[in-house]
Amino acid sequence: MSMKAIIEVNPRLPDALEEALNRLRVNASFFDGDVRKIMVVSADPDEGKSFVAMNLWRQMAAARERSILVDANLRRSVMVKQYGISRADGKPLSGLSHYLAGEKALEDCVLSTDMACGDLLPNVKNVANPSLLLEGERFSGLMDQLGGQYRHVILDVPPLGLFADGDRIGHLCDGAILIVRAGVTHKKAIQNAIAQLERADCPMLGIVLNRVGAGSIKILGRYYGKYYGRHYGKGYRADKYFKET
Ligand SMILES: Nc1ncnc2c1ncn2[C@@H]1O[C@H](COP(=O)(O)OP(=O)(O)OP(=O)(O)O)[C@@H](O)[C@H]1O
Ligand SMILES: [Mg+2]
Repeated sequence: MSMKAIIEVNPRLPDALEEALNRLRVNASFFDGDVRKIMVVSADPDEGKSFVAMNLWRQMAAARERSILVDANLRRSVMVKQYGISRADGKPLSGLSHYLAGEKALEDCVLSTDMACGDLLPNVKNVANPSLLLEGERFSGLMDQLGGQYRHVILDVPPLGLFADGDRIGHLCDGAILIVRAGVTHKKAIQNAIAQLERADCPMLGIVLNRVGAGSIKILGRYYGKYYGRHYGKGYRADKYFKET
């Protein structure tokens, strides 16, 4: 039995966005083969990985498909703070980095929620260099275990263009959803991300064009080529990953 979580922030999404995410969820259930472990990734910071991962998980759980959202951005977790997550029993949270470091058992880290089919594996303590943790057997074992227990395992990860974490995680996933920020992500960065996924042997399930128009998203599936002909402006905050805090 996992511990119950309280989630304070439950934003109501605009209908169009809700509908777009629902389409993504439905698409995800039609992927060829047994696609369970899905990494939500992007080339650069701030493209909406965590946002899409969280809302995709919510929709899957609301559709009564047993789902777990894993905060595998061990460098800069936002989930707990952004959504106001705490334990119903008032005790401190433990998360993925605690588990991978061998400090906690999985039962001490996984949280159940108000949604009967929606569990969370947060990350509470950031680590400067998670490579060793992600390369260890504890992580690959965890991926196997979660894949056996849940219909969907959604993993939120750091940007592909800055760190190799996504390569390692992607190698253990059944596929990736690539988030691209409309009008911002460079064509070259997208090409690099796609090549990186290929090298990691992680099939690309589709591309999400985030923030088209007023905060909405667009699912591009495989028909993405024509959207990236333009040269886009730069505007990332990569430094937030490297600032001393
Ligand atoms: N489609 C959207 N509609 C409204 N807000 C969005 C949308 N996509 C992202 N945001 C908001 O933009 C901000 C950055 O998004 P998010 O944290 O998901 O990016 P990220 O790719 O996970 O960044 P990082 O690389 O740092 O992990 C957040 O405040 C998020 O809530
Ligand atoms: Mg994020």
